[in-house]
Parts: sequence; C-alpha cells; structure tokens
Amino acid sequence: MAQPGGDPAARRRRGPDEAEIAELLRAGASAPSSHNSQPWRLRWHEDAVEVHGDPARHLHAADPDARELRIACGAAIANVRLTARAQGRRAHTQLLPDRDDPWFYGRVRPGAPWPPAGWEVELARAVRRRHTDRHPFADRPLSAGLRDQLLRAAWRESCRLVIVDDRALRRGLLALTAEAHHQQQSDPSFVAEWDRWIGSGSRSGDGLPAELARRAPRPDAAWRPRDFGGSTAEGDRVVSAEDPTEHEPTIAVVTSFDDGALAQLRAGLALEQVLLTATARGVGASFVAPPLEVAAVRVRVRALLGGVLWPQVILRLGWGRPVHPTPRRPAAG
Ligand SMILES: Cc1cc2nc3c(=O)[nH]c(=O)nc-3n(C[C@H](O)[C@H](O)[C@H](O)COP(=O)(O)O)c2cc1C
Repeated sequence: MAQPGGDPAARRRRGPDEAEIAELLRAGASAPSSHNSQPWRLRWHEDAVEVHGDPARHLHAADPDARELRIACGAAIANVRLTARAQGRRAHTQLLPDRDDPWFYGRVRPGAPWPPAGWEVELARAVRRRHTDRHPFADRPLSAGLRDQLLRAAWRESCRLVIVDDRALRRGLLALTAEAHHQQQSDPSFVAEWDRWIGSGSRSGDGLPAELARRAPRPDAAWRPRDFGGSTAEGDRVVSAEDPTEHEPTIAVVTSFDDGALAQLRAGLALEQVLLTATARGVGASFVAPPLEVAAVRVRVRALLGGVLWPQVILRLGWGRPVHPTPRRPAAG
C-alpha cells in the first residue's frame, strides 16, 4: 500500500517539500544571538536557504563592528546545514561573498540523498532543545571525554576551543570581564540599547520579553555580571530558591586563527556545534560577552591567551537544569 507522502527515498530525491523547508528556516531562527536580536534574514530562494545579516537589528553599542552579528548568522547557517543533513540530503554550503550584497553571509542548498552521520542527527535534534542557561551551575566538573568532544566540535570548523583552566588566566579573564562590564554600564548608549531589547515587554518575538526577564537569575560578581531582570520591579522578580552556589564553572573560549568576516562566520558555525554538543550531553551554557564587546579589552583577552588566536565567544559551561526557551520572531521574511 502506498505510504502517505510516498516512498521516503523518492521524496529525498525530489528535494525538500514545504514542511522540510519550514523546518530548515525554523532551525536557522533557533540560533543564539546577542540580546536575542536575531540579526538575520532567512529565506528560501530558488533551491537554497539564504542567510543575510539584517542591518536593522545590528546592535551598534554592544557590537560596533557587527562581529557578533556575523557569529549569530554563522550559528544559524550551522543549524540549517545540520537540519538538511538530518533530512537525509547533502548540504552544499557556501559562505560569503556576494559582491552585490555585503549583508549576504551564506547559502545552504540541500542536494542529493545522502545518509547523515550519527553525530549530525544528534546535533540536529539538539537545535530545538538548546537554550542559554544563565543560572548558577553545580560544582561538578566536565569529564575529560566530554571536554574532548567540545574541542572536536569547534575543530570541525577550523576553530579552536580554548578551555581556561589555569588559575592565573582565569583570574585575569575575570578581572577583564568586570572591567568591560563596568565600562558598558557607564556608557549611556549601551544602556539605552540594552533597555530597548531586554525586559521591555513591548516587542513580540525578539529581545528578552518582560516575563522572562522577571525569571532571570540574579547576576553574580563573577562570570554572570549582567542583570537581565534589572528593569523588573523588585517585588515582581521570580527568584529560584534551588540554585546552587557556583564556584568554578568551566570557561571556554571559541577562537579563530583570523579575524575577518569569514573567520567570524565560521566561529559562529563552531560556536553552535559546541553548544549543540553540550546540549546533547545535558551540559548547560551561557555567554560572557562583555570582555569581547569592548574592543580595547578584547585585545587584552587575546594577549592573555597567548596573542595568536582571536577570541570570538567566551562560554560558561556546566551542569544546569532545564530552562525556559526564549521566543523567536517568525523564521522567514
Ligand atoms: C555573540 C553572543 C553574545 C551573547 N552574549 C550574552 C551575554 O553576555 N550574556 C548572556 O546571558 N547571554 C548572551 N548571549 C545569549 C543570548 O542572550 C541568547 O542567545 C538569546 O537571548 C536567545 O536565547 P537562547 O540562546 O536561549 O535561544 C549571547 C549570544 C551570542 C550569540
């Protein structure tokens, strides 16, 4: 008897149907982005998903060079590519350039049927389950095997994940985090931009809505300096009583060997694969962006790490707990 939708192999040969295209676009839109700005435009054009940066969503104060914007778009491309592979097709991926469109970042064209590897299916499944976890983590280290998997996830994109274990380095990085956070908090344009995106409640499907900002954990004086619930009236905050006291989360830096637009996009692809690998293993992650957002401090982070690699994203990793998803605006458009 004929199966609804026909023989799966024949369907794969035909190319993605409407539901599969929608799944590809949704996967792209599930990527992380600074302030949940979702600074991309995703569209199905001819036979491929195209990812363009969206200048209207560029965070000029936090991200003057659009470096984080490109990282977010790279993460979106990784999600589309993994999802196309999990749908059972080759995923021909092109990154940059398009001479006519400086905001064009990449295209993923689903091709001939090709069975996905186990790791590709696993990471594609993690796309919808990955959420930033800003809560304190339990003081339980990541195993050597797990750390190795995270390093390899970044290496697939020719990026290096540097896990910062050395005590002096951690102290140095922590001091730079505090310094950069302080600088940003004293910059009226950073604060105004933050208030537009975080906890404002007036936007739908982007930024951090007020009801989630109320639930954000209180910051600490260490790796979680930002107060996402800051604009919430004190009595309206929802504070979890069960949070552990965090002492030594794993700190890892996604780094690249170059710092051009292509290197930043690839760092986004690497970042997302690190995050999805963590999600698939039950490990939580959040970001420590301030020291890389302040240009003069980023130079010092680079020097701290030896002066060769370009730091792109600092991650805090550890054993967390389920967290609320942050909404997205509609995927395409
Ligand atoms: C480049 C970059 C920088 C980010 N910086 C921070 C940060 O400093 N603090 C933080 O809590 N979240 C940070 N985020 C996480 C975003 O806030 C988060 O991805 C967004 O709100 C969407 O939520 P989700 O990751 O749970 O899907 C960053 C994300 C990216 C891609």
